[in-house]
Amino acid sequence: MNIEPGLWCREKETIMAESMLGLKRSHRCAELSLANVGQAVTVMGWVQKSRNKGGIIFVDLRDRTGILQIIFEESDCGSESFAKAEKLRSEFVIAVCGRVEARSGAVNENLATGAIEVRAESLRILSESETPPFHIEENSRTKEELRLKYRFLDLRRPDLQRNLMFRSRIAILTRQFLSEEGFLEIETPTLIKSTPEGARDYLVPSRVHPGSFYALPQSPQLFKQLLMCSGYDRYFQIARCYRDEDLRADRQPEFTQIDMELSFVDVEEVLDVNERLLHRLFGELLGVEVPLPIPRMTWREAMDRFGSDKPDIRFGMELHDVSQVVKDCEFAVFKNALAAGGSVRGINAEGQAAMPRKKIDALVDFAKGYGAKGLAYAAIQEDGTVKSSFAKFMKEDEMAALIAAMDGKPGDLLLFAADKNTIVWNVLGALRLELAKQQDLLKKDDFKFLWVTEFPLLEYSEEEGRFVAMHHPFTMPMDEDWPLIDSDPGAVRAKAYDIVLNGNEIGGGSVRIHQSDIQSKMFEVLGFTPERAQEQFGFLLEAFKYGVPPHAGLAYGFDRLAMVMLGTDSIRDVIAFPKVKDASCLMTEAPSPVDGKQLEELGIALVPQKEE
Ligand code: AMO
Ligand code: AMP
Repeated sequence: MNIEPGLWCREKETIMAESMLGLKRSHRCAELSLANVGQAVTVMGWVQKSRNKGGIIFVDLRDRTGILQIIFEESDCGSESFAKAEKLRSEFVIAVCGRVEARSGAVNENLATGAIEVRAESLRILSESETPPFHIEENSRTKEELRLKYRFLDLRRPDLQRNLMFRSRIAILTRQFLSEEGFLEIETPTLIKSTPEGARDYLVPSRVHPGSFYALPQSPQLFKQLLMCSGYDRYFQIARCYRDEDLRADRQPEFTQIDMELSFVDVEEVLDVNERLLHRLFGELLGVEVPLPIPRMTWREAMDRFGSDKPDIRFGMELHDVSQVVKDCEFAVFKNALAAGGSVRGINAEGQAAMPRKKIDALVDFAKGYGAKGLAYAAIQEDGTVKSSFAKFMKEDEMAALIAAMDGKPGDLLLFAADKNTIVWNVLGALRLELAKQQDLLKKDDFKFLWVTEFPLLEYSEEEGRFVAMHHPFTMPMDEDWPLIDSDPGAVRAKAYDIVLNGNEIGGGSVRIHQSDIQSKMFEVLGFTPERAQEQFGFLLEAFKYGVPPHAGLAYGFDRLAMVMLGTDSIRDVIAFPKVKDASCLMTEAPSPVDGKQLEELGIALVPQKEE
């Protein structure tokens, strides 16, 4: 078949895909308004839908700004264009030259361009479309798997387009703000040395050095510290990070950080510049005034009051430690937990005493999912009597004291967990959120920020049988706690802080160790031999020998920040091409097996995997 240069057509169909041929777009769809009435315009985009009313064809033209109504009549656009307009179907890409008019029919209040339409004078079909596997529409109810397989179509949906446009504005405003504050944008490598602390690394085999591997960075942490050693003073980067960990609704294997580091500062300066950044982002992008200073809470207080190191403070329902109140009672569950060094704590679900037994049982199961052995409850009836799973084990005055300690009133439902502190916090922290969800207490446009500070420096890993760094091994201990490092390492707090928004850890950071003796001691406490510390982090220890400014920094999870600002339920809704739970990409089908030849070049032999 003979195809004119610049044109192509399919054998089966007769519609030609025309080229631009010098045509220039004058406006995006939703850039037009009543102010443009009478103007000649050229618009381009996708056909959202087309309605042929016989002699008159209405087309909704869509681009990333919105939808514009085009009206075709043969008397205006001529027979050739009209014939083409009759063939239009959803997702065809077209160019229309025409004139803006005030709508002849009813104004469409739902559209930004609802008061106008464009009367077409000519039409060019730039590309046809097959019938897409799902309709491109806002708030699609199509299954996410299908949408992710055809992500290029899914990304045409107005809600996703708005999300990604908003995300771009966060990035641009962040760059602008940080640059005004004297930060330099510097890129750090993404093929780096593997330093397995924290999550698992993604590894990249080296062809030139068979048997050796690069890792993809979990964060630019060490490089930004080295940049401070090199005198760059204030650094930032919108950096891609990779972590091979179990995925959740707010986690991706590759994600983006807004990463920063500052020299010659302590905690205060880092919090200050970040509060002003958040103030600017929320003010300019959402019209939300963030009250400054952002409140602060120590890690310990957050755990005690909310059972979480990222408390959602949009609602109360705080935890009460009632260990002292129940310490002499005969209820074995409470007694045993206390005897084992644990605690008994409760939350008061105010006004929920009438909760049906079935729903309470569901809460018990929910608590078990978080490691609880059970959940004891007491429902205070309107007449003051108590329906409870454990009242029979308590004396009347003990029960009364417990209710008083919980601020229980008629109509309240009290829920208790007894166990090791970590389990009790975890269970009640999760339960508190679950109850808030059930009672619809979580308003997406209510933004409550919180700094959580003074995290423990170390946490004991049962799995590894040693202390591991709670944040990372470069975090500065609190000066007053450092003497405890040998006698009671678990009690040492760190100069570490997280920024929490509505129960999401949107960022975290710390003051760094800049003294080689403290850094070496940290490695020792973490179970590194001096040789292994040298082997893995030698370059950092070496750098520390040549003059290091005190430095500190922070990194936001950019995707999480965008997610909370936009109020989406999933991190996938703010990432153009996200991965799914098993870390695969449904569109490209990555990861995938590679050629034997590629493996051979890399000197890699595969161990056959057992079928699951
Ligand atoms: P951290 O490990 O706390 O700190 O990471 C910083 C922020 O990144 C986000 N985040 C993630 N987002 C999406 N998917 C993930 N898998 C994921 N993991 C983390 C979180 C988190 O608060 N180098 C330090 C920062 C510093 O100390 O300056 C770091 O990486 O929102
Ligand atoms: P039992 O005597 O095992 O029937 O438990 C009495 C009540 O205590 C039930 O409501 C259990 O769900 C609850 N319970 C059991 N273990 C715990 C625990 N560790 N913390 C709080 N409540 C518990």
